[in-house]
Amino acid sequence: MKKILVVESSPLAEASVSRRLTKDVVAALLVEHPGSEVATRDLAARPLPHLSAEALSAFAAAPEARSPAQREAARASEEAAAELLAADVVVIGAPMWNFGVPSALKAWIDHVVRAGKTFSYSAQGPKGLAAGRRAIVASASGGIYSEGPGEAMDFHAAYLRAVLAFIGISDVSVVRAEGLAIPGVQETAYEKARGMVAAAAR
Ligand SMILES: Cc1cc2nc3c(=O)[nH]c(=O)nc-3n(C[C@H](O)[C@H](O)[C@H](O)COP(=O)(O)O)c2cc1C
Repeated sequence: MKKILVVESSPLAEASVSRRLTKDVVAALLVEHPGSEVATRDLAARPLPHLSAEALSAFAAAPEARSPAQREAARASEEAAAELLAADVVVIGAPMWNFGVPSALKAWIDHVVRAGKTFSYSAQGPKGLAAGRRAIVASASGGIYSEGPGEAMDFHAAYLRAVLAFIGISDVSVVRAEGLAIPGVQETAYEKARGMVAAAAR
């Protein structure tokens, strides 16, 4: 039994390909780990605020020294980071937007990548504190970025891998539905990605 955290970021509902893929990934994870708990954080339905000056000052202060306003400003981040650290597997629904991730997902990253919580600095450099977890990214894009000329423009999967590795999660599988805007590719893009789901969940 595992604890699975699903992070959704597409504002589209039924029409979202990344949401379809996260559902497929969760179904495959439940086959591998029956009875697992699934929690969902929907960043489109409940967006996190951008980090404020108050939140940053709260992060810099010891928890017991925070003012009520600082505690309130840090609350979203405390909750999101705790939720991430409570999970064994994180499934991230990630549409590609302008070669990167939607700002709703970036805001979540800004809230969960926290010094002292999910990473620390030492004389040896940064250390990820979220090790032992794995992540599966369900990516959707209009173009193709896993190979060919688009590869150099992939600030999406490559970025997610880098930031997850920074907090210690280096076991990352990326399932890509790509070429969703390319005639001749789009017709089979989702099915092709779905074919990768079982292996990613294993
Ligand atoms: C605001 C916006 C920006 C996008 N930027 C890109 C992009 O840079 N590259 C790309 O290949 N597709 C881009 N797309 C297409 C999406 O990646 C594609 O529609 C994908 O299916 C979105 O995921 P979703 O279906 O889960 O919402 C963009 C779509 C939107 C709405």
